[in-house]
Amino acid sequence: ARPLAIAIAGLGTVGAGVAKLLRDNADLIAARAGRPIVVTAISARDRHKDRGVATGGMRWYDDPVALADDAGVDVVVETIGGSEGPARALVEAALTAGKPVVTANKALLAVHGAALARMGGTLAFEAAVAGGIPAIKAIREGLAANRLSRVAGILNGTCNYVLTTMRERGLQFAEVLHEAQKLGYAEADPAFDIDGVDAAHKLAILAALAFGRPVDLAAVHIEGIRGVSALDIALAEELGFRIKLLGIATRSAGGVSTRVHPCMVPKGAAIARVEGVFNAVVAEGDFCGRVMLEGRGAGAGPTASAVVADLIDIARGRLTPVWGAEALDDVPSLPMEAHVG
Ligand code: NDP
Ligand code: HSE
Repeated sequence: ARPLAIAIAGLGTVGAGVAKLLRDNADLIAARAGRPIVVTAISARDRHKDRGVATGGMRWYDDPVALADDAGVDVVVETIGGSEGPARALVEAALTAGKPVVTANKALLAVHGAALARMGGTLAFEAAVAGGIPAIKAIREGLAANRLSRVAGILNGTCNYVLTTMRERGLQFAEVLHEAQKLGYAEADPAFDIDGVDAAHKLAILAALAFGRPVDLAAVHIEGIRGVSALDIALAEELGFRIKLLGIATRSAGGVSTRVHPCMVPKGAAIARVEGVFNAVVAEGDFCGRVMLEGRGAGAGPTASAVVADLIDIARGRLTPVWGAEALDDVPSLPMEAHVG
């Protein structure tokens, strides 16, 4: 069959990871996709940077938005990042041009997801939530028969890595954050990680899928880990708790409440044992009960795994509408005061 020709916009941690995975597992991916998946065009800022992957024979674009008009490109992969700027312009241009888009960009989806969904077309985003955990598929497809009452979890690998390493080595977060950045876990602006905004973006996406309606980011209570000291972690440990940054979205008769903040969880709880860059995604449904998925939440390999899973779906013609099921009913976002307790 004719290869699926893709363009990758953004060749950093994730984009270069996708190119390497497509190279290293090419045979297996072609078998599962029903045809080869080939990178034919690329874009990044610095044309001369070594990406650790051969780019010869791929068409180079200084302007990523122009990829949308490349007639030799079937699918656009957006791994630039940011809710505005070239990432948003490219995704909109590609959808307008009728090209399927695969993105890892949770900021873009959390802010503009509803508007992008209204544009129609295929927008796949398994990589946007919890790295290598197939969280989107699990919520949208695996649990589709359930009325979900809660989605929650450890949704930021950088914060979990920082909190774990602070506990293990008695360090303050600033010292550890630098390591998370070097490992490719952190956002371009790491404030998005440590201030809880990235986790809120992911929670908004999960809640929209779980409850069938977009989440108003302004209604999400967000508190990050800046205020958590090594002493807090040591004291919690003595009392039998671990400190975790959790995102929790709950649906009740009154509406949907969404919050992100550090929590003390008993050391014996399964989620307390999710350490380092690992994430956990928990869902509670009326027939499935409680489900918890755990895996690496950030980094090149796990995130590329999710991007390429979407590409394989597209190559196979398995296309899912952006937010999956239609809204079951109109559930309001609860105001911030309603989160307390
Ligand atoms: P990086 O900063 O490592 O890579 C960003 C890439 O985008 C770079 O290659 C950069 O080019 C390119 N870029 C930036 N601006 C432009 C522009 N104007 N035109 C063309 N290219 C541009 O980010 P990540 O790979 O870490 O993240 C990418 C996306 O994936 C983000 O949305 C992020 O939230 C998401 N994500 C990241 C994960 C991770 O573990 N890192 C996990 C899951 C999702 P150059 O290299 O030349 O500077
Ligand atoms: N910066 C994000 C994190 C990347 O640390 O979880 C994965 O989405």
